[in-house]
Parts: sequence; structure tokens; C-alpha cells
Amino acid sequence: MIFRQLFDQVSSTYTYLLADEATREAILLDCVFEEHERDRALVRELELNLTCVVDSHCHADHVTGAWLMKRALGCQVALSPAYGAKNVDRPLSHGDEIVFGSHVLEVRATPGHTDGCLSFASPDTSRVFTGDALLVRGAGRTDFQKGSARTLYRSIQEQLFSLPDDWQVYPAHDYEGRTSSTIGEERRYNPRIGAAAREEDFVGYMENLGLPHPKQLAVALPANLRSGEPEDGRVPTHPDWAPLVVTYGGISEVDPEWVAKHKADIHLLDVRGTAEWDGELGHLEGAQLIPLDELRARLAEVPMDRPIVTVCQTGKRSALATTILKKAGVPRTANVSGGMLRWRQLGLPS
Ligand SMILES: [Fe+2]
Repeated sequence: MIFRQLFDQVSSTYTYLLADEATREAILLDCVFEEHERDRALVRELELNLTCVVDSHCHADHVTGAWLMKRALGCQVALSPAYGAKNVDRPLSHGDEIVFGSHVLEVRATPGHTDGCLSFASPDTSRVFTGDALLVRGAGRTDFQKGSARTLYRSIQEQLFSLPDDWQVYPAHDYEGRTSSTIGEERRYNPRIGAAAREEDFVGYMENLGLPHPKQLAVALPANLRSGEPEDGRVPTHPDWAPLVVTYGGISEVDPEWVAKHKADIHLLDVRGTAEWDGELGHLEGAQLIPLDELRARLAEVPMDRPIVTVCQTGKRSALATTILKKAGVPRTANVSGGMLRWRQLGLPS
């Protein structure tokens, strides 16, 4: 199974990408609105077919990226029907199975943090995705969204601690950078519900946490009741000057074919050395040559009235050039993917 754990620094949310290595079918657990481009780039680069975006529950601390992903890739949105959220294609209940290729996630109802919280067990990889029910050395707060410490105690004991000790626990959040745990570890060391904690111990603990009201609640909850669809219908704006692709590495790239057709609308910046400029790959007509190691010192020489498209031999140095330009305040810049080498392979005119 292909497995990736992704992290959103603002909300401390873990997003999980799971996929079948052979069929490339993939599912995404608990994706974050603001991380849409990152998640989409990873799906694209791993050549996966995202079939379903799953939310463990209706979050209060971040807006889900589910609707954005459905809009972009046509995948289904899955969530418990307990919230009555819009845009849900697949209402999930206890006992349901989410199949992707030869793998399956078993849905386990683990209410208590909210009344619709779900956990997902992966028997063939001995992993369980616990949402905000069981956290690493913690448990999700139970003081709002129809939360109940008594219900959560029973959910964890019956649905999660009933799993084998060696199963790995992957939560939806961690604020200390703890990425995973095991059922055995949490059964022993979880300070809220581990060791011989009884229901009264857990409830007493949870009811006296004294946590501040979640900052994002007023924004996140209504948005998540629409699966993250913006209320005004406005989606995050993409640069409109070129069909840019943002890589998982965070680089804005543009195809050589597009660049060849739109040379008049952009400024081409070649960041190779002077020997390469006149070397076997030659250079493009109208391009400006500033070797990468001189770019920071010679920024004033770069015309800023048009979008700047950077090029080098294979697109590596020019990728760094775009980040240098962005840091210098250039809003419209992109890298020619594959560089001069690909340009020549495609037989495009100089
Ligand atoms: Fe939550």
C-alpha cells in the first residue's frame, strides 16, 4: 500500500493519502482546504486515481479540502450522515467498507468528540486512523459539537483498544509533532484513558480540561457543513497568466509548448552559464542570460513588467531561480519544466 502522512502547520492536522500500488486507486483522509494544491500535486506525481475524500468528522479547527478535491478530480466525498452536511456523496456508517484496489478500510463509529466521529481500520496493514477520538497520549475534546466524555470512553475502549497491541495509531492531529503510536502504547501510557483508567477517571479528566474555545469554530463549522464549499462560491484564485502546475516540491511550472506559443507575453530568463548559452542546446531568441549565481545581485536588470519564465538545462537551477524571484517580490514567475533539454526534444523553435 502507498501511504503518506501529510501535515498542515496552521491547524496541526494530519492528512493521509492511501493508495493501491497496482491499481493506483487512492483515498485521502482529512484533507485541509489550504493544502489543496499540495495534496493534488502529490496525487498527480504519484500517478494516482483519487476516488474518495474521507473526513473522520466535521472538523472545528480547519476547513476541509473535500469539496475542492471533488471539484478538481471528480472524486466522492465521504462523511458520517450525523451532521447533515452538504455535498456528501457517500454517507458512512459503522461497518461500511471503503475499498481501494485490493485494500479496504473498515469504518468504525467512535463518537464522543463529536457524535459523527469515525475511525478507519486497515487490517492488511495493521493501522487505524483514529480521527480526533484517540490521539497520541490524548483524546479529542468533548465539550462542544454534541461531545460526550462517557461516549468517547466507550468508543475508545470498545472500538480502538479492542484492536491488537501492535496496530499503529494515526490521529488527525498532534500539536507536538508526534506522528503515530500503537494501540499497546496508548493502552498503557495514554494519560487520559490508559492503564486502568475507569470511565469516571476519564470523564473527570475530560470535563476539567479548561480548553479555550476553538478559534476557527465560527468559520470552520459552517464551511464544513458544506464539505468545504465556499459560501460565496468563490474558489481560491489561480494565476491566470499561464496554465501553471504547482509541483509537490512547491515549484510553479509551465510546459515548453505553452512558452513557445506565448513568448511575446512573457520575459524569458535563462539562468545557465555563458558556456551553456552558446553550447549544444543553444538558447532561445529574446531570452535574457543571468547565470543563477549572479541572479540575486542582478535582479534590477530583470524587467518586471511581464511574467518571468525561467529556463536552464533540465529545469533544476531555473526552479531555484523562480523561488529567488518570488522572494524578491515577483508575483508572476514560473519554471519551464524539463528546461532546454525538453525544449529541444520537443523540436520547438528557438
Ligand atoms: Fe475535531
